[in-house]
Amino acid sequence: MNSEAATARIVMERCDILGGISEEVGCLTRPFATKAMQRVNDTVAAWMQEAGMRVTRDAIGNLIGRYEGRSAAAKTLVLGSHLDSVRDAGRYDGPLGVMVALACVQRLHARGERLPFAIEVVGFADEEGMRFSRSYLGSRAITGTFDSTWLEVRDEHDISMAEAIRAFSGSAEPQELAEALRTPRWLREELLGYTEVHIEQGPVLEEMGLPVGVVTAITGQTRLRIGFTGMAGHAGTVPMSMRRDAFSAAAEFVLAVEGIARSMPGLVATVGQVNVKPGVSNVIAGQVTLSLDVRHQDDTIREQALLEMEARGRDIGLARYVTFVWQPLEAHDAVPCSTYLTQLFVRAIEEVEYPVQRLPSGAGHDAAIMSTLTGMAMLFVRCKGGISHNPTESVTSEDTGIAIDVLERFIKLLAQEARE
Ligand code: GLV
Ligand code: MN
Ligand code: MN
Repeated sequence: MNSEAATARIVMERCDILGGISEEVGCLTRPFATKAMQRVNDTVAAWMQEAGMRVTRDAIGNLIGRYEGRSAAAKTLVLGSHLDSVRDAGRYDGPLGVMVALACVQRLHARGERLPFAIEVVGFADEEGMRFSRSYLGSRAITGTFDSTWLEVRDEHDISMAEAIRAFSGSAEPQELAEALRTPRWLREELLGYTEVHIEQGPVLEEMGLPVGVVTAITGQTRLRIGFTGMAGHAGTVPMSMRRDAFSAAAEFVLAVEGIARSMPGLVATVGQVNVKPGVSNVIAGQVTLSLDVRHQDDTIREQALLEMEARGRDIGLARYVTFVWQPLEAHDAVPCSTYLTQLFVRAIEEVEYPVQRLPSGAGHDAAIMSTLTGMAMLFVRCKGGISHNPTESVTSEDTGIAIDVLERFIKLLAQEARE
């Protein structure tokens, strides 16, 4: 077994271990600022220390391991991904990128090698946004783009984000916490860039028969909360013509959203969460809340789609005497990857003698937020059937070995350029 293969096995074992750390029995669910996140951070911190890194946690609970460069004044290359998950998740979305980065540092440490720059490996505390319906909390905090009004947002158990963060990362006073979350950890000129390895979460690489690919850009997205309020009533006595059924309105809206998305090539729109009140089988639904997630590589097309969806929602509400509420929660534009860093990935893939496949990312990544601070690039790893956000998510040890090899070569190329 070559040394990348042995390292890949360790990465796979570590993804298995992290995959077993969950808030729910029988499936992997690791929301922001929970006991499971604490356990994952403790576990990964120990691995980081083993790899010769100094470990810190920031105000929001990001885990950061630093491997010093040759000189104390060296610039920093940041590598990372997220350690939180969606509900009933796969084990590679996020952790694979942290484990591959960590493995590369571990190998440097084992060789006693120091580079002309420092490396920081970050395990972001929240990328998925599941707990508070606000995503990228970790990378927003570390880049100084965190919106402090979000501290008031409450989760489904009525715990505010501020309370959750204070319980998770220490007891900073509210003002101090808001300040810490707005302060970027790095100054722009200290960073060489940010690089993230991530499973593709789509079918392209498998279709092409390739283990890895290089990302061109990360798609733009808008997340919203949609509300329909009608009138709850008796399921047996209110005639159909006299109902103000919030769920029927919501259902019509969901199908309208699907129709709009299907009519606009490249657009994807998802309603993944529905809350029906009072939620009783013999009561007409009085109130429905939906999540809506809309994405397109082209920001103007996404904006156009949002206008159409909002107009349709209003029309449906008016026709059914149901109040319609359209509440954008967060949005970010499409982000191109750094040409310079991407080219280093291209050279690294050529060195391992695989064809270079470039592909855009339809999924969001911490890299999109990191791009507000520094250039970013991403390497995708093939996953089985393109399946992700699903417990059957799967990558092979062989592909992971190739990703380790490519990231190591990327780091070496960057080190050569930093010396020149
Ligand atoms: C993150 O996985 C996202 O793209 O929603
Ligand atoms: Mn995800
Ligand atoms: Mn992810």
